Amino acid sequence: MEPGLDPRLIVALDFPEAAPALDLADRLAGRCQWFKVGLELYLAEGNAVLHELRRRGLSVFLDLKLHDIPNTVSRAVRSVAETGVGLLTVHASGGPAMLAAATEAAEAIPHGPRLLAVTVLTSMDQAQLAATGVVGSPEEQVLRLAEMAAGAGISGFVASAEETAALRQKLPSATLVIPGIRPAGAATSDQRRTATPAAALAAGADYLVVGRPITQAADPAAAALAILEEMRGVPAR
Ligand code: C5P
Repeated sequence: MEPGLDPRLIVALDFPEAAPALDLADRLAGRCQWFKVGLELYLAEGNAVLHELRRRGLSVFLDLKLHDIPNTVSRAVRSVAETGVGLLTVHASGGPAMLAAATEAAEAIPHGPRLLAVTVLTSMDQAQLAATGVVGSPEEQVLRLAEMAAGAGISGFVASAEETAALRQKLPSATLVIPGIRPAGAATSDQRRTATPAAALAAGADYLVVGRPITQAADPAAAALAILEEMRGVPAR
């Protein structure tokens, strides 16, 4: 039996233009509800691609990783309002004032986006983090940033599977969105803190973000179905 709809999989539509992104979304209709639009596709296609996805009844995660002064981020959140996206990222390292301003702006929008605070990028290991002046392990920094963001009113976080169990323990009701997902044997590419779909779910993830293991596969829809099949083995929390 083929797997049915699993709202826990977010497919990252990291394509240079709308056509292949919408084609993949159409091929996964009924199996995936969430699609992520990041900088590559958004800067090429703008709000039009968000509207196309919404028109298909799909939920959109706009991954702009906003990181600027509080006033600018607050106004950017307001600009996103009319697109109807469900999830929007901000960088936790923007600090408490920026996060509070973003939260206030999102809450003022009727049916506004849910904000996710990006903690430490999954492409960063201890050495990359140290090079930015951060002392301590990625896990320590993820927990520090997430607690700080929670204090600013944020309840959703992006981290790696390596910190998921600790985050879940510290913030039990948080929504945890986990990229850096690699099925067994898949190329890690630039990602450093990775896990398989099943391991990330078992650690306490609510959503998995998967890009290249699907988009770069010879048959992207088949690759997504294989991931859904693996996810089916781990019941929803
Ligand atoms: O291709 P891959 O599966 O590595 O894609 C992961 C996606 O998740 C990319 O779109 C990337 O921008 C995004 N992401 C991430 N790490 C974060 C936040 C978002 O990899 N901390």
